[in-house]
Amino acid sequence: MASPPSSARPARIVVLVSGSGTNLQALLDAIAADPDGFGARIVAVGADRDDITGLERATRAGLPTFVCKVTDYGSRAEWDAALAEAVSAYEPDLVVSAGFMKIVGQEFLARFGGRTVNTHPALLPSFPGAHGVRDALAYGAKVTGCTVHFVDDGVDTGPIIAQGVVEVRDEDDEAALHERIKEVERTLLVEVVGRLARDGYRIEGRKVHVGE
Ligand code: GAR
Repeated sequence: MASPPSSARPARIVVLVSGSGTNLQALLDAIAADPDGFGARIVAVGADRDDITGLERATRAGLPTFVCKVTDYGSRAEWDAALAEAVSAYEPDLVVSAGFMKIVGQEFLARFGGRTVNTHPALLPSFPGAHGVRDALAYGAKVTGCTVHFVDDGVDTGPIIAQGVVEVRDEDDEAALHERIKEVERTLLVEVVGRLARDGYRIEGRKVHVGE
């Protein structure tokens, strides 16, 4: 699959969040620091819940927001279709799942597969799922980190774009380790999104080629 965004205009990005949105903020800051050079702009921010700092960050940045709550729909498939519809209204070139704590389904992937990027707080394929930091710590891993990958129909199984490594310290608890991972993660996500937008990419099986 090849999806280089057009070089004639900045890539349009929809970001999905569920929580504090510090990864979103890192993207906002990087784009604000170099609006012409970054190669992308965020056109909307979506969430699966209200009252989260991530949405406040988007509003502060003057961006439109939308919320798709699973509980507002009769089934998971209906929710997924509604999310796909809400995202498609903003015609994104890339969708960035930045701490979005829901698994997207068939309808979403039919529209945005191959251009949805997720960031995960572990070195995939180790410790997928909702508790990547806790699981690595409980396992006794000595290094962990973060993975930016394309989303496929599995749980954190899609083709890997980039990873960052973080050492686990003896004194770490989940919060401390997650905070150090997020420092690396924010930088990595900004770098990856910028490169995908500026340089284009190809996905061949499990391999992602950026700018080739
Ligand atoms: C990030 O560490 C992200 O990797 C993680 O949630 C955090 C969101 O932080 N996502 C997952 O665990 C998904 N399985 P943020 O809201 O401050 O950007």
